[in-house]
Amino acid sequence: MISLGIIGGGLIGSSWAMIFSSAGFRVLVFEADEAARGQVLDRITTKLSTSASNGVLEVQEERTTSFFDNHHHHGHHDRKSLSENTAEHQQEQVNKCLKRISLVSSLSELVSQTFYIQECIPERLELKQALFKQIEEQVTSLGKHHLIIGSSTSTLAISSLVAQCASFPSANKEHDSDDETNFSRQCIVVHPINPPELIPAVELIPAPFTNRAALRMVQRLLIVSKKKPILVKKEVDGFVVNRLQYAILSEAYRLVHDGVASPEDVDSAICDGLGLRWAFMGPFKTIHLNAPEGVTDYCERYIGAVERITQTQDNSIHWDPATIQTIHQSMDHQIPPDQRTNAYQWRDQNLLGIIKAKQTQ
Ligand SMILES: NC(=O)c1ccc[n+]([C@@H]2O[C@H](COP(=O)([O-])OP(=O)(O)OC[C@H]3O[C@@H](n4cnc5c(N)ncnc54)[C@H](O)[C@@H]3O)[C@@H](O)[C@H]2O)c1
Repeated sequence: MISLGIIGGGLIGSSWAMIFSSAGFRVLVFEADEAARGQVLDRITTKLSTSASNGVLEVQEERTTSFFDNHHHHGHHDRKSLSENTAEHQQEQVNKCLKRISLVSSLSELVSQTFYIQECIPERLELKQALFKQIEEQVTSLGKHHLIIGSSTSTLAISSLVAQCASFPSANKEHDSDDETNFSRQCIVVHPINPPELIPAVELIPAPFTNRAALRMVQRLLIVSKKKPILVKKEVDGFVVNRLQYAILSEAYRLVHDGVASPEDVDSAICDGLGLRWAFMGPFKTIHLNAPEGVTDYCERYIGAVERITQTQDNSIHWDPATIQTIHQSMDHQIPPDQRTNAYQWRDQNLLGIIKAKQTQ
């Protein structure tokens, strides 16, 4: 069975373990903290069971050869229709995945046995830099030059994570575009969106020096794991998803701050309005369908208004404490602090409902 590795068995690491095990891979998890190690399998089991009982856990056959030839897996996943999704079947699916996952006690074990590692340790630059250096040392001493590392980081660039590595490419040195013997060039950001086991989109952010072959391998790995890779072609702060999210967040803040609408109504404009179509089409397809002749027609009609309004929107706006309080109190009114656990479940149930609806389209 083909093995891949996870470093850090927290929230995100356990989601990746679920994703890759259900995609047919053997998954080795390296968790450094003794106490955390005891919780990893429980956390994965809970995630697997939730997806299984909602009928969205697809368990693929074990992968024994190169996963680049995916044809024999095609259509062989084990998702049953609702009537066949019995408790017994669900437990079987969960167990199949759990059997593919094991904890290992050293980094060298992980490096020696896997072709790909997903790094999921806390979001601290110095911790990640030290880890990438350690992995590089293992790769060098074990001669595992083909190993590829993906970092789950939400905010850091891969070029900063490998900056302390011996193999860090110097800016003025020419390099061959697919040199697999340089560790730094085998590393890439692979950023999931919470909760990763439910949300398909995953952002891929290579450094300018990342091997194209490594990028293609990760794209393939994600596709066979039923994820939707989004290629971020430059190392920009916030990648794509958070840049979009923060642009909306700034305007939402401004509308409340300027007394245009209440926090509840701003939220409603998204979840009872724009957000309904965003689950299946983005802003570009939206405008393409909003004018009879498509995007160019839309722009002829409306770009004047778009530019007039966006000129009044400065997203570098400062968030003042009074407006933050107004928004917080409004949210606390809807979700009282003692109801937060229910609210997480409510959110995930809604997500599952939308994912199921999309599967039938
Ligand atoms: N939480 C989110 O919503 C989210 C979403 C997308 C990406 N991310 C990113 O995923 C990464 C992990 O976040 P998380 O929320 O899972 O954190 P977490 O704190 O839940 O888990 C991190 C785990 O890594 C372990 N660890 C620390 N150093 C280690 C080491 N050297 N070797 C092995 N294990 C080690 C810790 O003991 C802990 O169990 C971060 O980079 C974060 O930015 C988080």
